[in-house]
Amino acid sequence: MSIAPLAGGVFVLLLAASAVPAQAQPAQQPVPPRAQGAVPQPPPSRGKLLYETHCITCHTSKMHWRDGRIVRDWLGLVEQVRRWQDTDKLQWSDADIVEVARYLNDAIYRLPKPAPA
Ligand code: HEC
Repeated sequence: MSIAPLAGGVFVLLLAASAVPAQAQPAQQPVPPRAQGAVPQPPPSRGKLLYETHCITCHTSKMHWRDGRIVRDWLGLVEQVRRWQDTDKLQWSDADIVEVARYLNDAIYRLPKPAPA
């Protein structure tokens, strides 16, 4: 299958948009002044978005630094993420599971993990 027709459509749309006279454009949103010295934040990672969408309905991230937590190492973390997405029937791919495990590890666990593949 080719993406050429789709790309062509996008191109036509772009052309049409640029042909609209300037006055017809909606007023520009005012850009909120950035707080002094604020560092621009990178957009949230896929892992963070997945976790925040599906996982914090019943536990806050406090779950992950409670005493006696289950996760002991990187593979254990991946297994728990796999188990939970399975419980919730989310059908995440291995890549998604690793993304969420990586997010939790970066944010909370800080376990030594195998070098990224
Ligand atoms: C139905 C409620 C519920 C949902 C939804 C849920 N969790 Fe949990 N989670 C728990 C409970 C309760 C525990 C602690 C008891 C246990 O592990 O059985 C837990 C424990 C964990 C742990 C182990 C924490 C530790 O170090 O001891 C991980 C990791 C985890 N969840 C990840 C996830 C992820 C990722 C998702 C989203 C796919 C998710 N959970 C969705 C209820 C939930």
